[in-house]
Amino acid sequence: MTADPSLAPSAARRDSHNSLRRALVERLRDGRTDLAETVMEIDAHAYVDPDRHAREREAFRKLPIMACLSLDVAEPGDKLLFDALGPEIVILRDGEGQVRAFLNMCPHRAARLVTECDSRKRMTCRFHGWTFDLKGKLIGLPGAEGFAGMEREARGLVELPVAEWAGMVFVRADPEGGLIDVAEWLGPFAAELEHLELGRARPMRRSRLETRTNWKCAWDTYCESYHFATLHATTVAPRLVSNVMALTPFDRHARMGFPRKDWYALADAPETEWPDENFGGNYFIFPNINLNVSSGPNGEMFYGFYHLYPGETSGSTVTRMATYRPGHADGPQPDEDWQVLHGFIEDVVRTEDYSVSEEAYRNLSDAPEGFSAVFGANEILVQKWHRDWADQLEELGLGEA
Ligand code: FES
Ligand SMILES: [Fe+2]
Repeated sequence: MTADPSLAPSAARRDSHNSLRRALVERLRDGRTDLAETVMEIDAHAYVDPDRHAREREAFRKLPIMACLSLDVAEPGDKLLFDALGPEIVILRDGEGQVRAFLNMCPHRAARLVTECDSRKRMTCRFHGWTFDLKGKLIGLPGAEGFAGMEREARGLVELPVAEWAGMVFVRADPEGGLIDVAEWLGPFAAELEHLELGRARPMRRSRLETRTNWKCAWDTYCESYHFATLHATTVAPRLVSNVMALTPFDRHARMGFPRKDWYALADAPETEWPDENFGGNYFIFPNINLNVSSGPNGEMFYGFYHLYPGETSGSTVTRMATYRPGHADGPQPDEDWQVLHGFIEDVVRTEDYSVSEEAYRNLSDAPEGFSAVFGANEILVQKWHRDWADQLEELGLGEA
């Protein structure tokens, strides 16, 4: 136990992490994994149909989507550009410390307003120089005499619903989509995320991948460990056990554990002696985010976020990856350790997971009529997610005709 009380895990975090480790240690001991009732088939059309894809893109504009963490826009004036939902969005912190989101569109003639993420307190359009404050208000209008009669108040930036909760920033790309109630959206999962203290997590490295596959082909790879021993034989499999999973659903969100190989030893030790920093759990924020809470090869705890989005066609996926150093991982290790880890995971995802996802998408596009993929009972979270996503589309009025 560390001497600095602010670095000690909260009781809630330790309880939660131990419950997941306990469940996984039991499964290791018994040689079993969580199973769905039966296999599940999914028609190739769900991945390749352009109409289905358009409806999914529409759903992403309507739902509250987590865009970043609080410290990504830590100070007044800090900005983040977020274009993965279709329209480009500027997320910023205003002078009063409130997070706001705007369409990155100048209300004069629609030019792209913010082109780099600086910390300036005003935003000036490079086309004709209209200037806006951090609340989106038009405060500078060169050649104002030419706009006599124009209602200035109505020419502010288009503001989008945004909410900051427990260190996370959620945004909705539809200006008319209504306020976001994060606690309601997360439901019982809120407490499970709250103890991670994401508001203290410092950004270490960010990247973006564009991949030629359907976003669900890519997403499915995050939801099971059945493939670790084969696809990740030399990268992930030396550290993590293949095909042993413990799933805890929280409505449409979920927590899933993949045991580490050194956890066989935990079975012989009392829980009070389990080291805090030896953890591995995945938190799935519906519909598109996997948060990997794990310890890296040097024992450093990291938060790895993998955000997936449907790209412009059914065969394109955008992935935003971001690695954070948790507030409690405040030892002497250099930030570089987290940056190196980010690069390692990105390489594995790109060269292994996404490489098979691209090949599978090509095959699904050319598959014989009536072909279905099949998810085993062991691919329990993949099954759950596809059911939940189909239900979500129905609820939004975007289901199958
Ligand atoms: S389009 Fe921005 S000032 Fe003209
Ligand atoms: Fe994988």
